[in-house]
Amino acid sequence: MKIPRATPGNKTVLLTGACSGIGLEMARLLAARGYQLIVVSHREEPLHQAARDLRCRFGAAVFPIVMDLAHSKAAEELFERVGSLQLTVDILINNAGMFFFGEVADTDPTAANRMLALHVTTPSLLATLFSKGMRSRGKGHILFVSSISAWRDFPGIAYYGSTKKYLRGFANALRSELAPYGVNVTCLAPGATATGLYDPNVVPVDLAKKLGVMMPAESVAQAGLEALFNNEAECLPGVLTRAMTAAAVAMPQPVIDWIRRRGPWLKSG
Ligand SMILES: NC(=O)c1ccc[n+]([C@@H]2O[C@H](COP(=O)([O-])OP(=O)(O)OC[C@H]3O[C@@H](n4cnc5c(N)ncnc54)[C@H](OP(=O)(O)O)[C@@H]3O)[C@@H](O)[C@H]2O)c1
Repeated sequence: MKIPRATPGNKTVLLTGACSGIGLEMARLLAARGYQLIVVSHREEPLHQAARDLRCRFGAAVFPIVMDLAHSKAAEELFERVGSLQLTVDILINNAGMFFFGEVADTDPTAANRMLALHVTTPSLLATLFSKGMRSRGKGHILFVSSISAWRDFPGIAYYGSTKKYLRGFANALRSELAPYGVNVTCLAPGATATGLYDPNVVPVDLAKKLGVMMPAESVAQAGLEALFNNEAECLPGVLTRAMTAAAVAMPQPVIDWIRRRGPWLKSG
């Protein structure tokens, strides 16, 4: 299955977290196929740079919106901003995300609150606000970017893994609700991917990419978009990702706890 070219009735994409990593690669793949993009990120300069690049390389229509999506009113604000552009969103991609290691008791409540808003409140409410129009038009696509950490509960990333688990469940339920109306919902669950999500002082991303332990963001973006346009429920990109997920599901909890106690990326408990 290839990513189809945009058509007049299926051409406007709202993509969060578009200035880097998997989101930027998705933006490039879509722009190359004639989609117009409303791209949202928090940092102004990287987002405007990405928008300029997409216009230059692909001649795409790109509408950047700089917004902090990690607060409780972000979805409503974004819905209003998109409304003022007078564009109909055909495809919603909830990709923006953040990551931190750390035990629950050590987590800064502000950071925890931001992750809960960014991974739970905002994507859920964006789906609520935009799916209504899709449902009445009888078409549309929504993609949620979860993670393989949704398949198993890991100590040390409780906030991250649990919010990604929520996204997976939400996507599955919403998929059943919207399918009768012709609207597709897909959940993309990447494994380790070489992006700026991780602190390079803690995770050697470049080395991991060279060793093939981390997938390139382009491959993950390609797999996710193919799954979306193929109306698939879930996508775990890459053989290693699927193998790691199966292993994590099968692994006894004491083994996971042993790894956690020895992991150099976590303070000892
Ligand atoms: N990399 C992996 O190994 C991996 C594995 C599984 C799942 N994922 C998921 O994949 C998605 C994309 O992450 P990535 O790996 O591509 O990392 P990334 O390069 O760091 O991309 C994250 C994107 O989210 C945006 N974002 C973060 N906080 C935001 C906020 N408060 N408001 C608006 N935008 C915000 C960032 O824009 P700004 O920098 O401008 O804020 C950036 O464009 C995330 O949901 C992540 O959880 C990644």
